[in-house]
Amino acid sequence: MKVIAIANQKGGIGKTTTTAALAAGLKQRGFKVLAVDVDPQGNLSTSSNANNVELPTVYELLKGEVTAEETIQKLDVYDIIPANVMLAGAEQELSQLGKEQRLKEMLQPIMGLYDYIVIDTPPALGVLTINAFTVADEIIIPTTAGIFAATGIKQLHDTILKVRRYCNDKVKIAGILLTRFDPRTNNNQDMKEVTEQLGEYINAKLFNTYIRASIVIEEAQTRKVDVFSYKENSAVAQDYSAFVDEYLKGDRS
Ligand SMILES: Nc1ncnc2c1ncn2[C@@H]1O[C@H](COP(=O)(O)OP(=O)(O)OP(=O)(O)O)[C@@H](O)[C@H]1O
Ligand SMILES: [Mg+2]
Repeated sequence: MKVIAIANQKGGIGKTTTTAALAAGLKQRGFKVLAVDVDPQGNLSTSSNANNVELPTVYELLKGEVTAEETIQKLDVYDIIPANVMLAGAEQELSQLGKEQRLKEMLQPIMGLYDYIVIDTPPALGVLTINAFTVADEIIIPTTAGIFAATGIKQLHDTILKVRRYCNDKVKIAGILLTRFDPRTNNNQDMKEVTEQLGEYINAKLFNTYIRASIVIEEAQTRKVDVFSYKENSAVAQDYSAFVDEYLKGDRS
């Protein structure tokens, strides 16, 4: 049983896409998978075709108004706990004491039912992302080569170190995943810079697999199907498939 948080405070760099592809890929390989949407934007929920309008979401879960079991929706692609814009109020509404622990506390009763829980986080390092880090065994950091700003990665790393110190001493970084890679604009120099900055600011490996930029991602999301079911043979589906395999090879649990 492993909990993986997908995080980067930068927006639009492929967190949600990676969460969905990893969860779907693990499920296709026979694992029991739960995806958890911890972003008020609810992009994972809508692109997975979950019902985040009429049914309870992670917001009610964090407030302790429902159990995890009551929030889980069993979809063909994977089980999911959805989110919607109500979650934006969580920062203010969660009581101060133990507010970083809420997600962990509420997921505990159902953890035994799954092999992997994959959590999508918002583009911020606030209480929601901290909740994800507090329950996580591992963090995967997607990033694009173009905006691999050292300061952002340092800030993210500092947050992870703080979580390790105060909330969850076992959490580690599984690796950095380059996404939306475009060979026309991203060159070898970019790759070299990324690797150098990695060594300088954060002690984590770069996954060998990188994810190419492709319109297929948006097409699949618009149709609310996972990238493998939509176009299994597309370059980007194959990239994500290779990433899932690379992740599993490194996962010795
Ligand atoms: N490999 C890719 N190729 C082309 N487009 C992509 C790729 N990955 C993601 N996208 C597109 O980029 C946009 C941002 O992706 P995504 O929603 O996964 O990022 P995010 O980090 O979750 O964003 P946010 O920070 O807003 O939650 C989406 O429109 C998505 O369809
Ligand atoms: Mg997202």
